[in-house]
Amino acid sequence: MKGVILAGGLGTRLYPLTKVTNKHLLPVYDRPMIFYPLETLVKAGIRDIMVVTGGTSAGDFLRLLENGKDFGLEHLTYAYQEGEKGIAHALGLAEHFAGGEKLVVMLGDNIIEKDITKEVEIFQKQEKGARILLKEVDDPQRFGVAEIKDGRIIRIIEKPAEPPTRFAVTGIYMYDSQVFEFIKNLKPSSRGELEITDVNNRYIEKGEMTYGILEGWWTDAGTFNSLLRANILVAKKRGTK
Ligand code: G1P
Repeated sequence: MKGVILAGGLGTRLYPLTKVTNKHLLPVYDRPMIFYPLETLVKAGIRDIMVVTGGTSAGDFLRLLENGKDFGLEHLTYAYQEGEKGIAHALGLAEHFAGGEKLVVMLGDNIIEKDITKEVEIFQKQEKGARILLKEVDDPQRFGVAEIKDGRIIRIIEKPAEPPTRFAVTGIYMYDSQVFEFIKNLKPSSRGELEITDVNNRYIEKGEMTYGILEGWWTDAGTFNSLLRANILVAKKRGTK
């Protein structure tokens, strides 16, 4: 299985922190943000990883991560996203890299406490389709939210004003190679982007979506409050080691 980290976008919710650099290069406690998802994938046994980024700081990722030696990798693959066309569009750039294999995709601003090895193993055995990881949160309206019935996700609603559950869809997605066909058929949302939630709903409609509940804490880091939260959670985790 291969891994993809999505680290593009303008990071507008963190302006002016992101005026001259990419969100995923900002510090989270003692490391640049992108280190955390990269570490999560490596810990789950994934060795072949692509980083998708864009904008004017794209070259800084190469200088920072080099060939992945600090993470025990032999090489890293990079792709450049032109424009800000959404998470699903960024993932579409990994089609050639994936080469028909299954993928674990992680948003570059998602940080977790524990590891996802077991979940990746479950998906490895899943014959086809996709698997996502959910987490119960206090502020589901900030995320994609899963509506669940009889132990199955029946749909995902992106940033609902009235969330049907408190289960947020985390930025950790596992897909088979159908994902690229789904992405090609997507239409931009009202904010002009190709939405990962629309991709996930395609798998749900086909009855090929499974899910797990993420253990330990999870946070994104794309707003001032969540970035602060990420810093505090990571600092506490380091302190208790
Ligand atoms: C994105 C997804 C959302 C998901 C979240 C996880 O939101 O669109 O479904 O719950 O990542 O971090 P964004 O951070 O782009 O608003």
